[in-house]
Amino acid sequence: MEPILAGDIEVQSYLGPGDERTLADDVLDGLTRPLKELPPKHFYDARGSELFDAICELPEYYQTRTERLILQSSAEDIVEVSGAAELVELGSGSASKTRVLLDAMCEAGTLERYVPFDVSATTVHAAADTLVQEYPGMSVHGVVGDFERHLTHLPEAVGPRLVAFLGGTLGNFPPGSRRRFLRGLRNVLGSDGHLLLGTDLVKDPRVIEAAYDDSSGVTAQFNLNVLHVLNRELDANFDVDAFEHVAFFDRQREWIEMRLRATDVQRVHIGKLGLDIDFAAREELRTEISAKFTPQRLEDDLQAAGLELVELYTDPEDLFAVSLSHRAGG
Ligand code: SAH
Ligand code: TRP
Repeated sequence: MEPILAGDIEVQSYLGPGDERTLADDVLDGLTRPLKELPPKHFYDARGSELFDAICELPEYYQTRTERLILQSSAEDIVEVSGAAELVELGSGSASKTRVLLDAMCEAGTLERYVPFDVSATTVHAAADTLVQEYPGMSVHGVVGDFERHLTHLPEAVGPRLVAFLGGTLGNFPPGSRRRFLRGLRNVLGSDGHLLLGTDLVKDPRVIEAAYDDSSGVTAQFNLNVLHVLNRELDANFDVDAFEHVAFFDRQREWIEMRLRATDVQRVHIGKLGLDIDFAAREELRTEISAKFTPQRLEDDLQAAGLELVELYTDPEDLFAVSLSHRAGG
């Protein structure tokens, strides 16, 4: 696809007509399973990305502000250890915590390039436009793509690379895919690169459940928005008002699950697929898991992916962790 050039900005998109196919395939596969399921990347249309930003401001959603605090106290150290000239941010979204890292790189005099990577085109363009103005001399190479499929399209590194994957997004992979994904990340680090990972920690289930079922109902709207995406993109006729938001912490697996529960029997027609899907009364569709970590689980996952923990930064209440790692064995 044609790059769009605007001064120091270049944005490359790898999503095209083929990606409606991905949504169609995911729906065909996920909604005809005995336990209905959808992958979380379809939450993030323009409205979904806006709702997610609102989630990050909620009093119950401790993750964003805690991760920001951790970054504020560790950024200098992270930049010193990594010597990073370029920041690659996967699932960058509105890039609200990114400035903390870019500031530290700027301060250290190493900052050359920022590479935001997200499935949401609007957020990549918005982050690129704002940040290129705030950091004179820094170039931006945005990538609109799916980090599960398009990591090989990252531009060649301009120097030591810091790959940031923040916001606890790693927890949205099931455990096996999580390790496979980390192994893939290992390859994009290069020999002198570092991985900066933000992971939510295991804690009192009540605190976790409140973060995914807030009192003002923003998370419920975010979750339900995926049905609007299916209605619009696949010409489906979900009665969105007849679904309710469910969030519960699975204590054994130590992850929280988001589901949408049909309040009554419902037959949904998906026009573009020529498919009818039946929901029984109270039947649930799983839309996301978000795994919570112990430091041990994190280390085990990193190790299984050929990575080695360099530093683990946490907050005083041990709510959240930011870890810095690099390729194992040098
Ligand atoms: N990093 C931000 C946003 C986290 S929300 C923060 O910490 O607040 C998760 C982000 O990942 C969203 O911006 C979403 O659009 C993006 N995302 C989700 N699945 C993706 C995928 N498969 N490929 C690329 N981006 C994805
Ligand atoms: N990566 C975020 C997380 O796991 C995504 C998220 C936050 C989310 N709240 C949500 C996804 C509510 C679905 C519903 O915390």
